[in-house]
Amino acid sequence: MSAVCNGSQQQQVHLQHHKNRNEVARRRWKILARALQKTSDIDTTPTNVNDIISVRRFTTFDLVTSRPIILNNGTDDPAASWFEYTATISQNTYSLNIRHPTRSFTAAELIGFNNTGNICVWPSEEVLAYYILCNLQYFSGKTVLELGGGMTCLAGLMVAKYTTAANIHVTDGNISAIDNVQFIVKQNGLGDCAACSVLQWGDIQDKPVGNHISTYDIILSADCLFFDEARQDLIETIWTMLNEDGTAFVMAPRRGHTYEKFAEEAKMRGFHCKSKQYYNEHVWNRHLKLKQSCDYDENIHYPMLLHLRKTYAENSYN
Ligand SMILES: C[S@@+](CC[C@H](N)C(=O)[O-])C[C@H]1O[C@@H](n2cnc3c(N)ncnc32)[C@H](O)[C@@H]1O
Repeated sequence: MSAVCNGSQQQQVHLQHHKNRNEVARRRWKILARALQKTSDIDTTPTNVNDIISVRRFTTFDLVTSRPIILNNGTDDPAASWFEYTATISQNTYSLNIRHPTRSFTAAELIGFNNTGNICVWPSEEVLAYYILCNLQYFSGKTVLELGGGMTCLAGLMVAKYTTAANIHVTDGNISAIDNVQFIVKQNGLGDCAACSVLQWGDIQDKPVGNHISTYDIILSADCLFFDEARQDLIETIWTMLNEDGTAFVMAPRRGHTYEKFAEEAKMRGFHCKSKQYYNEHVWNRHLKLKQSCDYDENIHYPMLLHLRKTYAENSYN
C-alpha cells in the first residue's frame, strides 16, 4: 500500500508558510529556471514537484490507501499514473480510481495560479473523504459543492459515488487540477452525477447570484485556510454559495494561527461556527498513535473540523 500524499512536498508547503522562506524561494527559482532552460548545458532533468525535496515526512493517516493500477479499458494515458484509492469502514469497501499526472510543470503553470492542489492529496482531503464515508446519511437528497478540491477532489467524488446526494459539484481554482479531475470523473463513470469546474474564490463577488451560480445545502473544503490573501474570498464564496439553512464542512489543520483566523473572520461575516477537534473515533485514534512519531506534527497535520452555518442550529450534524 502506498501513501496518498507525498510528505516531502507537504513539508515544502509548510516551510513556505511558516519558516525558511528563503530556502523555498531559492528552490522555486531553481525549478522555474529549469523549466525555462530548454538547452542541455545545465540540467535537463524533467522538473516534477515530486523531485523537489528528499526529506520524508508524515504522508497519510492510512484511512484511505492507494495502490497502482493499470486501467483495464486499455486507455492510453502516458501523462499520468492511475491508483485505486480504497477506504474500508465497518467491513464495507469504498474505492475510486484516481489519476496522478506525471508530466512536468510548464513555466506558465509554475508562475501561474496556486499549485498546492497539484502536489498530492493532502491529509485533510483524505480525512474529509473518510469522514464522509462514515456519515453517508448526511448527504441524502442534498446539493453539495466542494471548494478547492485540488487535483482529485477525493472527498466530493466519494459523495458522488457513494451517497444519494441530489447533485455534487466539485471545483478548484487551478485549471490543471480540474483537467485532472475531469479524467477521474470520466474514468469512474461519474459524469451523470458529478459536475466539475474551475471556480476561483476571488471571482464570486463579480457574478450575480442566481445568474451564474446556485446555492448548495452542503459545502466541503479541505486544507484551504492557510492562504492569507484568499481567506476573505473563501469566506465570501461560502457565504454566497451556501443555502440559508446549509452547512459548510471545513477541514484543515491549525497551521499556525490560520485556522483560528479563518474561524474568527467567518464569525465576523455572520457565520455560526462550531469547531471540533474530536469528530471521528477512528481518526482520533490514528491521531493519538501518530503523535508518538517524530514525523507527525499535530499543528500542521491533524485536521480540525469547522461547521459553518448562516443560521443557528444545535446538533444538526454530530
Ligand atoms: C493545499 S491545496 C488542498 C487541495 C485539496 N483540498 C487537498 O486537500 O488535497 C489548496 C487548494 O486550494 C486551491 N485554491 C487556492 N486559492 C484558491 C482560490 N483563490 N480560488 C480557488 N481555489 C483556490 C488550490 O488550487 C489548491 O487546490
